[in-house]
Amino acid sequence: MTHSIIDALLRHIRSGIYPMHVPAHKQGRGSNTVSAAVIAQYLYKMDLTEVPGLDDLSEPSGCIQDTEAAAAALFSADRSFLLVNGATVGVEAAILAACPPGTRIAISGVVHKSAIAGIALAGAEPVLLYTRLSSKYLMPLGVDPAEVERCLAQEKGIRAVLVTNPSYYGVCQDLEAIASICHKHGAILIVDEAHGGHLSFSSELPISGLHAGADIVIQSAHKTLGSLTQTALMHVKGQRVDHDRLASCLRLLQTTSPSYILMASLDSVIHRLSLEGESLVASAVANAREMRRVIRGLSGVSLLSPEDLEPVFSLDPTRITVSAADRGILGTELQERLRSRGYQVEFSDLLSTVAVTSYADDDDDLRGFCSAIEDAIADAPSRSSIGEKLRSRVYPLMVRAAEEQATSALSIRAAVLSHRREVLLEDSIGEVSADGVYPYPPGVPLLLPGQVITESVVDLIKELLAVGISIRGIKMREGSPVCSIVD
Ligand SMILES: Cc1ncc(COP(=O)(O)O)c(C=O)c1O
Repeated sequence: MTHSIIDALLRHIRSGIYPMHVPAHKQGRGSNTVSAAVIAQYLYKMDLTEVPGLDDLSEPSGCIQDTEAAAAALFSADRSFLLVNGATVGVEAAILAACPPGTRIAISGVVHKSAIAGIALAGAEPVLLYTRLSSKYLMPLGVDPAEVERCLAQEKGIRAVLVTNPSYYGVCQDLEAIASICHKHGAILIVDEAHGGHLSFSSELPISGLHAGADIVIQSAHKTLGSLTQTALMHVKGQRVDHDRLASCLRLLQTTSPSYILMASLDSVIHRLSLEGESLVASAVANAREMRRVIRGLSGVSLLSPEDLEPVFSLDPTRITVSAADRGILGTELQERLRSRGYQVEFSDLLSTVAVTSYADDDDDLRGFCSAIEDAIADAPSRSSIGEKLRSRVYPLMVRAAEEQATSALSIRAAVLSHRREVLLEDSIGEVSADGVYPYPPGVPLLLPGQVITESVVDLIKELLAVGISIRGIKMREGSPVCSIVD
């Protein structure tokens, strides 16, 4: 008898491919603590329910409450919540708590699909913040404080602003300025810090949401802190958000059977970071800086660097975005070339490939990855630059698609719950999208549910599909892309 999932996992493990991707513990390399060893040893024995002596995640009053209090102390929050349904459930609960039905929330174009789900659940109305794009890397960067000010001054009744910080590429916004603008206008600032749990442990990194003054911050602990996949944290600070209302919104969404193994893993990481968070993150930053120095010396490679960003943005150096497009290699192709050399990256897009480093990598691992990049490029067939061609074709489409995103025919909630039918992508122009359409990862939408599908978006989707980027919300039927429209 074969086991599909177990066999696939074992095949992957035996391949020895090195993880330049999340989770941050890098298949246990960064989990050399006594508590992690205890979890591994007692895996099945620890898989318990709410028996006496343990606690209840939905109304914690014992060991879970203590761990939440330790998390709050570690991150300087007023109250922290352990999450076992990923940052996804935290983002959804935060929006539900901040935005009663019919109220408005301003969101950046760099928004994960969990925020769209939260808006659909809350019955809120999104107002899109203009999102700056990089013409060199063809990626969204984030919002600048002036745009938040413009939006909150012009649009009436915005209850909350949600920004993703850092982005999947490690780009951070001026959160302190954004927080003070939000508060001046009486809006709640929610920071989706799924990729930034480590920011609070080093002054060399961009500022974290809580230190910048955000009201609610959600972190995927598994992505950057080293706990098991699905674990996350939500923090609340100050009195702009009712803490009990937030807890009750979370109770609506989170499983009633939380895994003690996942919660123990959070406990282990919170404890470890309380003792040595600063030194762990300092070593991750130092390794990443050395790696960046080596990559900068490679010919034919661009490395996303602070110099590529306008001063309103900063960069988390532990996120490594490289492009060999000017040497004729697409992001997806570089990903494949690195995989065949023993390294799996987090994701790739048209021009770039994104690798995640963490305190679990050592400098030998990272040197090996740099050599693999050099090798992957050296033996690629010599081709003229496709970078320039793609930039001149795709950048105008991205700009137009971002501008046109303002046109919604239906609310997100109405579109998600609507009757729908499938049409060929090329026949969908002028129709209303029933789904969000997201290249995944990173899950940043090209189309929100309820938006009118335009020619630029269709052309952009075709460009991405042509180079093998997988797009949620688009299915293939007999070799042709189809999407769902409101019937
Ligand atoms: C920006 C952002 N927010 C939220 C999430 C959801 O996090 P999780 O996978 O922990 O549910 C992700 C996941 O990729 C993300 O990239």
